[in-house]
Amino acid sequence: MNEHTCLTEIADLKTRYDLYGGVHKGLRRAGCELLLRLGSVDFADAGETEAVLSMLRLYLDLAASHVMHEDLHIHQALQARGVSTATVDHQHDDHRRDFAALEALAQEIESAAPAERRAACRKLYLAFAAYLADDLAHMHEEETVTAPALWGAFTDDELMDIERRIIGSIPPEKNMAFMRAMIPAMNPAEREALLGGMQRGAPAEVFNAVIEFAVRPSLPAAAFRALASRLRIAA
Ligand SMILES: [Fe+2]
Repeated sequence: MNEHTCLTEIADLKTRYDLYGGVHKGLRRAGCELLLRLGSVDFADAGETEAVLSMLRLYLDLAASHVMHEDLHIHQALQARGVSTATVDHQHDDHRRDFAALEALAQEIESAAPAERRAACRKLYLAFAAYLADDLAHMHEEETVTAPALWGAFTDDELMDIERRIIGSIPPEKNMAFMRAMIPAMNPAEREALLGGMQRGAPAEVFNAVIEFAVRPSLPAAAFRALASRLRIAA
C-alpha cells in the first residue's frame, strides 16, 4: 500500500457514484468466509473437502471475472482519458498468477496421498491468506486512489453507463452468483438502494428471480423480512 492510501485520507472521500463499494464488499466477505472455512475444514472428510474446494473455485471464478471487468471497462476508460492505471494493472496481473497457483494447490490436495494431505492443506490455507491480504490492500487502493481518479475524469452518469456495460456483459447465472456474494455483505440501506433500483428499472421477472435465487437464499430470515418490508414485497 503506498502513501496515498493512508487511513487519514479515507475521511476525505467524496460522495459520488461508487463503482466499487458493493462488489468489493461482496468479495471481501466471500474471501474472509473462505479463509475461515479453509482453516477449520476437516480435510480427512471427503465431503467437506469437496465442498470447501468448490467454494474456492466459485470464489476464484468470480474474482477472475471481476478483475477482467475492471480491466476492460474501467482501466481502459481511464486510459482513454489519459489517466494511468499502471499500479492496479500490475496488481491484477499478480492476482491472475495467484488464481492459477491457488487452483494448482487445490488440485494438489485432490491428488495427495493420505500422508501428504495435511501438508497440502496447510499450503493452500497459507497461500489463500497471503492472496487475501494482497487483495484487501488492492481493493483499498482502488477505493481510495482509483475511485477519486474516476470521479475526476467522469460524470456520475458516465460511471453509471460503465456499470451498465459491466452488468450487461455478465451471463445471468454469474450475475446471480455476484448478487449472492454482494447482498449479505451490504448494509440494509445499500441493499434497499440496489434492489429498489432494480425493482423500478428491470423487468418484473428479472427482479423476482433475483429475489428468489440470490437475495432470499443469501440473507438470514430476519434480514430478508426487513428488506421485504422496505421493498413492499412478500416476505
Ligand atoms: Fe481490482
